[in-house]
Amino acid sequence: MNQPETLATLQASVKAPAYVKNIRLLAWVREMAALTQPADIHWCDGSADEYDRLCAGLVKAGTFKKLNEAKRPNSFLACSDPSDVARVEDRTFICCEKKENAGPTNNWMAPAEMRATLNPLFKGAMAGRTMYVVPFSMGPLGSPIAHIGVELSDSAYVAVNMKIMTRMGKGAIDVLGESGEFVPCVHTVGAPLAAGQADVAWPCNKTKYIVHFPETREIWSYGSGYGGNALLGKKCFALRIASNMGLRDGWLAEHMLILGVTNPQGKKYHVAAAFPSACGKTNFAMLIPPKGFEGWKVTTIGDDIAWIKPGKDGRLYAINPEAGYFGVAPGTNKSSNANCMASLNRDVIFTNVALTDDGDVWWEGMTKEAPAHLIDWQGKDWTPEIAKQTGAKAAHPNARFTVAATNNPALDSEWDNPAGVAIDAFIFGGRRSTTVPLVTEARDWVEGVYMAATMGSETTAAAAGQQGIVRRDPFAMLPFAGYNMAEYFGHWLKLGERLAASGAKLPKIFTVNWFRKDADGKFVWPGFGDNMRVMAWMLERVEGRGQGEEHVFGITPRYSDIHWHGLDFSEAQYQSVTSIDHSAWAEEMKLHEDLFEQLAHNLPPELPATKAKIQARLQA
Ligand code: OXD
Ligand code: MN
Repeated sequence: MNQPETLATLQASVKAPAYVKNIRLLAWVREMAALTQPADIHWCDGSADEYDRLCAGLVKAGTFKKLNEAKRPNSFLACSDPSDVARVEDRTFICCEKKENAGPTNNWMAPAEMRATLNPLFKGAMAGRTMYVVPFSMGPLGSPIAHIGVELSDSAYVAVNMKIMTRMGKGAIDVLGESGEFVPCVHTVGAPLAAGQADVAWPCNKTKYIVHFPETREIWSYGSGYGGNALLGKKCFALRIASNMGLRDGWLAEHMLILGVTNPQGKKYHVAAAFPSACGKTNFAMLIPPKGFEGWKVTTIGDDIAWIKPGKDGRLYAINPEAGYFGVAPGTNKSSNANCMASLNRDVIFTNVALTDDGDVWWEGMTKEAPAHLIDWQGKDWTPEIAKQTGAKAAHPNARFTVAATNNPALDSEWDNPAGVAIDAFIFGGRRSTTVPLVTEARDWVEGVYMAATMGSETTAAAAGQQGIVRRDPFAMLPFAGYNMAEYFGHWLKLGERLAASGAKLPKIFTVNWFRKDADGKFVWPGFGDNMRVMAWMLERVEGRGQGEEHVFGITPRYSDIHWHGLDFSEAQYQSVTSIDHSAWAEEMKLHEDLFEQLAHNLPPELPATKAKIQARLQA
């Protein structure tokens, strides 16, 4: 008779340290190692020493270039394969048993069929490479709102990015204990090495699969090293899998920044805002109040994702499940986001920005004048003249930085609070050069859900594919809702109903559009710090003060309702960013209709009913 396997044998079979006692974790690592056949296994402990060693290895391998220590201490530049620069939405799958549970906005494949597709791809995929076992907590260690994941990856680039982006290492293993639950995430770049085969700086595979099994809560990612496809705690777990967990357990996993805003009287509010990728969440989360707002303070809790759970008092409490920022570099500068620039002074991993001749980094929009010479993100010589002639960008438009939240001078003192912060207002915003006004307050929760559900935005470089095309991006969650979008709307409506029935005061809902353009194609609204003017109006509304004008789909402040001190912005300019063109809105409503037709199955009746009311007002 076989002796039952001892913990020590199981640990030894996967080179696990003695502190790893979770049998399910050990057995899963062994199963995945048997499938992917790595040359070695390394359990990440999350120490600074380990980070330094892995970064040194990446420099040696040619993946990282160490930046000039005097200019940018402890920082590195990675340049990806030119084909692996963004999220691949068309290769992203939700594999639940029933297609209708994934809904028409997600790619779907039956779990058994997807497993049959993935198994041959993962077989031997890590040959010649080290498998990094990356345990991580999404959210403060031990927080009742947090959850644990473990990512197996054959990329040291992934391991060091995960160290910055999550609470990674032994601490997560300790929370897991002997029998804790974790989300298993397996990632390979899909580039096995034969004996003696030389590696490349950025291994990846033309074939890519970013796969979620919501019913068994697994993530499998193949072929890409790009953050949104490979750092599996972020979009895959914290949004696609977590939105399924939230649906089941009554909470929300959202593509939202969270900020604190304190007025001159010392009263603090918390705001969560959903904008699509590369539409300014990081800038808004790190906003510096402009002239005229002396005594106001904005502090960052998160810049990309919020997990929001109802508290016993009926209020909604939010945490940032991440521990770092994986932000878009181009366009970031001292006037658009001084806090971000200060965060990037040291300890940063840059991906796909340009290298200066003195070993520092540069990207479009960083300074008014470009340096005379650079090495661009593809390793080629770049000069302003070459750019003029060829249109070549020095940095890829989706070039990124990875940096710890603790580098942010505007970090909120509550950012790591396991209990989260109570949300006073939700903001939803798209990138629209026409039609959508600067700011609108929804008159009630249902109207707010309607406006968020029907939001449109012009596509950006954060996802592969054509840019600048207006598409519906409900709640800025189109690429991230891990289940049927119609049901997702229902989840929001039910949550509001439930909280209202408990007597709770619901957060107010606002929609914004910072991006309206004039006839010359120039942005009219100054944006960035001046968005504070709009937020201050919202907070007055939260307090039950502040005036506005009611229109067909909500309430918008009049020129005289905004505090203008310190900004020269005329009433005519204000009209041009707040006007509601009824004929443009009649067209816009057709796009809402198209969305509702697409999502007809299980669409909550409140939404078409709200649409009918808006249409009637438009025709009145
Ligand atoms: C991101 C994205 O990286 O939304 O945050 O693409
Ligand atoms: Mn994002």
